[in-house]
Amino acid sequence: MPLFHANPSQGAAWITGASGGLGAALATELAGEGYTVYISARSADTLDAMASDYKGPGRLVALPLDVTDREACASAVERIVSESGNLALAVFNAGTFYPIRGFKLDHGVFDKTMGINFFGVTNCLIPTVNCMNEAGKGQIVVVSSSASYGGLPKSAAYGASKAALVNMASSLKFDLDPLNIRVQVCTPGFVDTPLTEKNDFPMPFLMPVEKAAKAFAEGIRGNGFDITFPKRFTWMLKALNLLPYWLYFPLVARSTGASKKR
Ligand SMILES: NC(=O)c1ccc[n+]([C@@H]2O[C@H](COP(=O)([O-])OP(=O)(O)OC[C@H]3O[C@@H](n4cnc5c(N)ncnc54)[C@H](OP(=O)(O)O)[C@@H]3O)[C@@H](O)[C@H]2O)c1
Repeated sequence: MPLFHANPSQGAAWITGASGGLGAALATELAGEGYTVYISARSADTLDAMASDYKGPGRLVALPLDVTDREACASAVERIVSESGNLALAVFNAGTFYPIRGFKLDHGVFDKTMGINFFGVTNCLIPTVNCMNEAGKGQIVVVSSSASYGGLPKSAAYGASKAALVNMASSLKFDLDPLNIRVQVCTPGFVDTPLTEKNDFPMPFLMPVEKAAKAFAEGIRGNGFDITFPKRFTWMLKALNLLPYWLYFPLVARSTGASKKR
């Protein structure tokens, strides 16, 4: 039997980190396919405005929460199931980026990054898997990053949290496939969002957020485990990570200017 593929007739979709950036654009894209999309983030007013401004074919429903609040994540799953009948598709997208340098290490940066980017996902994932297992089907997408592929300057906390997500999702795939729960990761390159606005370096192949959301939605409809865009950049980065470390480090240091900056 082919592995489950969500569609709007199978139940609702849930996206975390949906008050802006990639999550908001994906919510509009999925609602455009006809889904009822539960949109979560901390900014309740923004979510309410998105829900009331949206005009069909699907629906946006505001479901404010902080992904670091474990009980709130479990209650969110219960609410989605009780209101919509089934949670067919969950996209764990909430995330943040705090740069960190080796000469100014800080426990707080690691704690906050793992708290939101990694444990924020497990807080949502566990009740979601339980609910999809009961339903006998489901589709889950974990939003990682192409920064998960290997070490990058300033990314010791962010990259580690995103690499942990890929490892977790790929490990779970062995158990979730037999439960008819499709699990995927999304590893974007640079997308033009409030998160990347803070970057003070040139971002190769920076992708407009609406275009990124279309590529993301196409990946959700597809069969691949890794949904990635823009491919010209992420595949190049993947290839770079196949190199031996003695070549990888000087190439990355030179192309990012990392070795000069302090
Ligand atoms: N943009 C890129 O180039 C890029 C590249 C690779 C991967 N990604 C990943 O893609 C995802 C979305 O990124 P983005 O660029 O769209 O970022 P963004 O514009 O900063 O949006 C982040 C979203 O996450 C929400 N969020 C943050 N902390 C949260 C928390 N504790 N609880 C609930 N929601 C929270 C924010 O809403 P509130 O502040 O309202 O809570 C917002 O909706 C992230 O996981 C990011 O790591 C982005």
